[in-house]
Amino acid sequence: MWRRSRRIGGGGSRPSRRVGGGGSRAILRPMKGYYDTRAPEYDEWYLGVGRFAERDRPGWDLELDVLVRAVAALAAARTLDVACGTAFLTRHLRGEIAAIDASPQMLAIARPRLPSATLVQGDALHLPFDDGEFDRVFTGHFYGHLIEREREAFLAEAGRVANELVVVDSAVRPDHEREEWQERILNDGSRFQVYKRYFEADGLAAELGGGAVLHAGDWFVMVSARVQAARASRRRAGPGGARVHAARGS
Ligand SMILES: C[S@@+](CC[C@H](N)C(=O)[O-])C[C@H]1O[C@@H](n2cnc3c(N)ncnc32)[C@H](O)[C@@H]1O
Repeated sequence: MWRRSRRIGGGGSRPSRRVGGGGSRAILRPMKGYYDTRAPEYDEWYLGVGRFAERDRPGWDLELDVLVRAVAALAAARTLDVACGTAFLTRHLRGEIAAIDASPQMLAIARPRLPSATLVQGDALHLPFDDGEFDRVFTGHFYGHLIEREREAFLAEAGRVANELVVVDSAVRPDHEREEWQERILNDGSRFQVYKRYFEADGLAAELGGGAVLHAGDWFVMVSARVQAARASRRRAGPGGARVHAARGS
């Protein structure tokens, strides 16, 4: 369960005191702790069970079905799902699928749902894959958690490994600012500050440099964009220096 904590001005480029300064990995470290803890209860958000059963979310279930069908309708392709979480959406992607997430707890839930995909634990802002290794990067409910410099790093990495980026995220809601820090309380009572944005589909498409709106609902948006390939200049190794090559079933 979560509630608005404080509103952000100026493009969200200021990390909170909690997350501190330093590079992008320093910023994302508290987020990883949050998702490690949240992994076993993450799907309660999608399914409207547990603490989410008390939420009034008119039309959520129907729209989630529509969103899942839109994900399943994407043409089969070599796809990397970045920040795949529990693979709630990933499992509907078609083609040769690889998925990366920072959280081993999330990946443990994702693994049996993706028996023929390549799963990698790693950092979305330093993708351990080769230039042009995929046709498409897909990412669900991740882009909206990135502050400005993380967004830039993510988009550069997405454009390095693929030509198409599909972003699924939360639609603008009347009870939320478009950009806010939220206090999120997990089932064990632990509390985390999480940065979160809500999108108009057209606005997200424009932000990504122009693209096609694939879903524009009351709860979710989905946009496909061509991402600028910056391969030659941005080629770099992952944090451990090891690069991972996507291959079915490995
Ligand atoms: C809100 S969940 C989204 C999960 C899934 N994509 C979905 O749509 O349901 C955000 C995910 O981002 C992952 N994550 C956070 N920071 C990350 C990073 N730097 N690199 C890779 N994954 C990260 C978390 O572990 C979590 O699984």
